[in-house]
Amino acid sequence: MRIEVLADPAAVARRAAGVVADVLRATPDAVLGLATGGTMRPVYDELVALQRRGEVDFTRATTLNLDEYAGLAADHPASFAAYMRAALFSRVPVDPARIHLMRGDAPDPQAEARRYEAAITAAGGIGLQLLGIGRNGHIAFNEPGTEASTRTRLAPLAAATQQVNAPAFHPQPVPERALTMGIATILEARRCLLVATGADKAPAVARMVQGPVGPDCPASFLRGHPDVTVLLDPAAARDLAAAAPSG
Ligand code: F6R
Repeated sequence: MRIEVLADPAAVARRAAGVVADVLRATPDAVLGLATGGTMRPVYDELVALQRRGEVDFTRATTLNLDEYAGLAADHPASFAAYMRAALFSRVPVDPARIHLMRGDAPDPQAEARRYEAAITAAGGIGLQLLGIGRNGHIAFNEPGTEASTRTRLAPLAAATQQVNAPAFHPQPVPERALTMGIATILEARRCLLVATGADKAPAVARMVQGPVGPDCPASFLRGHPDVTVLLDPAAARDLAAAAPSG
């Protein structure tokens, strides 16, 4: 696990976008695993800026998102499908046939999970997986208690996660479950890039990097992956031993 502590959240976003752009320059038909959430918004803004300057091209890329709320259709404003359209897919030229999102409103979630795993395999596996981290140490919607062997499935959302995401649904209740790639699915990506900014992520980041590896902090399973880069701002790195700005 390589840790980079950048000067501030903007520098983190630039660096994350730079990694994605480097992958796309080297491999124009790269398979990208994409994440949503507040941390990723500035990363997508940077990627859009790079695309407008002609420095990155998504037209041959394949994308596979990590997760989706159960019961939500793609046109629901709080869906991750809507997030991705607003953050990236409507802003850069992409091939719609190469965009993969889980159908939150699939009538048979187990069948949808199997379809998604098959789509990952058919794409040749994920080359670069973008990840955020929850304050409780989740990655994708693999909440504390999730085992390393898990694959794409319908999973319960922790009460804390529901609370954090409640504003997007207000006044409706937050879904209690989500379709999510599993830990084993994520660990099969050839490379992972986890991004965390802000002091509210500091305890989870410290547990991921320095705590015991296990289901209490699902992000800790990334320590078993051979190629993980973690990009942090100083606030998110606050609880790490011997963290120093690296650029
Ligand atoms: C989203 C996802 C989640 C988020 C995490 C952090 O696709 O998989 O694991 O990455 O909840 O979210 P933010 O960035 O909103 O703090």
